[in-house]
Amino acid sequence: MKNLLVTGGAGFIGTNFVRYVYKNHSKVQITLLDKLTYAGNQTNLVDLLGERVQLISGDICDGPLVEKLVSQTDAVIHFAAESHNDNSLIDPWPFIRTNIVGTYTLIQAASKYHKRFHHVSTDEVYGDLPLSGSNEKFTPTSPYQPSSPYSASKASSDMLVRAWIRSFGLQATISNCSNNYGPYQHIEKFIPRQITNILSGRRPKLYGSGSNIRDWIHVNDHSAAIWDILTKGKIGETYLIGANGEMSNKAVLEMILKLMKQPQNAYDIVKDRPGHDLRYAIDASKIRDELGWQPLYTDFQSGLQKTINWYVDHQDWWQMDKNKIEMTYARNNQ
Ligand code: NAD
Ligand code: TYD
Repeated sequence: MKNLLVTGGAGFIGTNFVRYVYKNHSKVQITLLDKLTYAGNQTNLVDLLGERVQLISGDICDGPLVEKLVSQTDAVIHFAAESHNDNSLIDPWPFIRTNIVGTYTLIQAASKYHKRFHHVSTDEVYGDLPLSGSNEKFTPTSPYQPSSPYSASKASSDMLVRAWIRSFGLQATISNCSNNYGPYQHIEKFIPRQITNILSGRRPKLYGSGSNIRDWIHVNDHSAAIWDILTKGKIGETYLIGANGEMSNKAVLEMILKLMKQPQNAYDIVKDRPGHDLRYAIDASKIRDELGWQPLYTDFQSGLQKTINWYVDHQDWWQMDKNKIEMTYARNNQ
């Protein structure tokens, strides 16, 4: 594959994926299609822009633009989405539009021009698992039971891709990954919000009891998994990506506080998220066994320390947004 079209390439995971491909696969050319919403940052890849990497500012719901770009590429890697659960509870419409109509627009074009398509999705489509009394994990055959407008819109987009594979022969794969962390993550999300709260003299905010569990994976491990699926994955298949990184939110926050030399109790408990999923956990044996992928960033504390260092070193990247994000949370008592 010589030319890739990466949607949402100016967001958190898209940026890290483009950097991963740029560094490890020197013959690949990349076109990014990104609407540059509040979550997209065109400075993220400014050092790479040039002959090999091109950024197009545009909307995945724009049919003619999407057709033109898809017709010129070898493969589409589809990251673009509205991605934050809390926002989806305040205003679901952008999630329906971008995540469902946008995915529809892309797969119509990919089918028409017979292009390889990889759909990036989330484990949240499976709903949640109990907090105690079960070691169950999500597998590719787990039932879809999304809880929030965000996860329901991602579940819908997965279903569209599956229908297009079956009915129109779309050459697609799907991946459902657990919670990512690492550099360039928007400060509305849990880990960067707490780090930047401490750096800006605010107290970290924990929803409810903090007992909810997320299965953390470093974003570079996610990028490597997507590359393996793109190059070795079987058309029509779904791969779950996770790195056995289950931790409660309270435990993650306490680790951040410790690494940033703050007292262990220096945080506020705030209003819980409505419909808050209890636990996510991924069984990644399929991608490990069939494609030989394995996570490399298995020391969470070390990955978290490097992530903290990144936000310390890139205050210009996040400071401008901080007040606005915190005002939105405060309006919601979070
Ligand atoms: P993000 O919010 O950081 O980035 C999304 C990007 O999409 C932004 O650059 C934004 O400008 C762009 N975008 C939004 N609407 C668009 C539109 N209509 N047209 C073109 N571009 C548009 O999100 P992220 O965390 O990088 O997530 C990327 C993908 O990975 C999403 O599909 C998400 O569902 C999935 N995912 C995320 C995680 C996670 O932990 N963050 C885990 C599993 C899967
Ligand atoms: P988030 O990063 O929004 O990811 P997701 O909703 O996709 O899992 O949140 C991760 C967890 O952290 C989730 O259980 C909600 C919780 N959380 C807090 O406790 N405090 C916060 O300030 C935020 C943003 C999230």
